[in-house]
Amino acid sequence: MSEPRPLPVWDLPTRLTHWLFVGCIACSWWTAEERLMDWHRYSGYTLLGLLVFRIYWGFAGGSTARFRHFFRGPGAVLDYFKLPREQRARIIGHTPLGGWSVVVLVLAMIVQVTLGLFATDIDGLESGPLSHLVSFDGGRAFAAAHELSFDVLIVLIGVHVVAILFHLFYDRNDLTSPMLSGRKRVAGEADGMRPAPVWRLWTGVALATLVVWFIVKG
Ligand code: HEM
Ligand code: HEM
Repeated sequence: MSEPRPLPVWDLPTRLTHWLFVGCIACSWWTAEERLMDWHRYSGYTLLGLLVFRIYWGFAGGSTARFRHFFRGPGAVLDYFKLPREQRARIIGHTPLGGWSVVVLVLAMIVQVTLGLFATDIDGLESGPLSHLVSFDGGRAFAAAHELSFDVLIVLIGVHVVAILFHLFYDRNDLTSPMLSGRKRVAGEADGMRPAPVWRLWTGVALATLVVWFIVKG
């Protein structure tokens, strides 16, 4: 097999979106704890925009960011575990199991933000921008569900991080460095990620901004 060489794995928008997801979730949790509700909403709206962008990027982004590249059935997940360890470490982009974790985490974040949009606090002073569409009791029910879904989200994030550690220690496959640098050293024949043209990035940013603007305006 030829010497390992660095290949592009993730485009910049995918990496930026990922680390901003992490930042927004930390910020949303902290601002809720400190009852900084204006900042809590801003952080939530940013997360909403990132989610819109990530879904769009799943159709228009670089090759490894696309849903069709990694969204595979349970058979593909089982086949993946039958591969020898070295072959698993040479995969460019999400593994079949990693693909499922993308879908589950993105869905969990969508649920979290959506419930927040309709939530109302106990004195009705701090509310999501769509809470006027439901009654006060309805808004309180959304707030309770918003709190519960946060616990679910935290558990899923825990599983995500444990899976990354499993790959690191069991498969000796460091997934985090490529998520930071965009590149991975791979030996043998392999194709790197094919990037998307830059105009698609700006289209995605404009789309995400518009969707957030419409929702925040209520
Ligand atoms: C559009 C985005 C969001 C809006 C409009 C929103 C709105 C709200 C509101 C109105 C409350 C107060 C509920 C109450 O006092 O009972 C709340 C609480 C909370 N939110 Fe959000 N939220 C958003 C996003 C998020 C996100 C992304 C997270 C975390 C990932 C999050 C986590 C929490 C937590 C942990 C609480 C505290 C629950 C409590 O202890 O009372 N929120 N949110
Ligand atoms: C708030 C916490 C987190 C959330 C919500 C989250 C969410 C996600 C999502 C949605 C993806 C799919 C990326 C994409 O295709 O767009 C992903 C992938 C990934 N995340 Fe996270 N993540 C979190 C924390 C972390 C942390 C703390 C690390 C590092 C220790 C990490 C490392 C990775 C890596 C390496 C991948 C790529 C996995 C692969 O190669 O298949 N994540 N994460």
